[in-house]
Amino acid sequence: MGKSTISGKNRTGIDMSPIDAKEMMALVRVSPPSSAGNEQAIAERRSQYFAEAGVIGSVPPPGTLKGIASTAMEKLTGKNPEAFIDKLGCRLAFERAGVRLYDALIAKCSAAPANSIVPLDRLQDFRNEELEHFKLVENAMRSIGADPTAQTPSADVDGMASIGLVQVLTDPRTSVAHCLEAILIAELADNDAWQLLIALTEKMGMSDMARDFQNALREEDEHLAYIRQWFRQMVMEDAAVAS
Ligand SMILES: [Fe+2]
Ligand SMILES: [Fe+2]
Repeated sequence: MGKSTISGKNRTGIDMSPIDAKEMMALVRVSPPSSAGNEQAIAERRSQYFAEAGVIGSVPPPGTLKGIASTAMEKLTGKNPEAFIDKLGCRLAFERAGVRLYDALIAKCSAAPANSIVPLDRLQDFRNEELEHFKLVENAMRSIGADPTAQTPSADVDGMASIGLVQVLTDPRTSVAHCLEAILIAELADNDAWQLLIALTEKMGMSDMARDFQNALREEDEHLAYIRQWFRQMVMEDAAVAS
């Protein structure tokens, strides 16, 4: 495995040119900010926007009530199914994004010279499991009359939060270790979100659905453990110390 971290002509630090650094610090002392205001003004403006803004999205009402088991309807009565559907839609989108993240990681690892730490067949298994989880949530949504093709507000926000992860995975310059760190962030968030979804599903009275989700969480536990281990191993190896 090639080293992830190499020394080179990095000019971002102040120590690159001590003379210029002195001059720069002197300039800071004599130059006033180019515009008036401070972080308080930024906070006030944000509060103003917040008060004026609408919501980021909405959950569509169930498209059809036909075919929904009456027992499911009974269980949801008196609760807020939209909040449940929002989180289901979020998990659905995340699992679909997970497939794409693993596809990118597989491509990265396949192209990496002498990648001896991450077995490709294991990555392929994880990728396929993310797809299975996507289908699982899709079916769960359909079973309560929700439209799995609609983007829910939480799915929208999660997608926005994950943009950086996709960028890390698809940047041709990033190393396998960089990509494992990005996947680790995704798997940590995913694991936590499954736990919350299972708790919510149980509270909604959907015990069969919660059981299916538990099986998915067991696979997610395995993803997290392996990714964490590979990342750790790679960081230690890069630092030339034993893991
Ligand atoms: Fe996942
Ligand atoms: Fe996963």
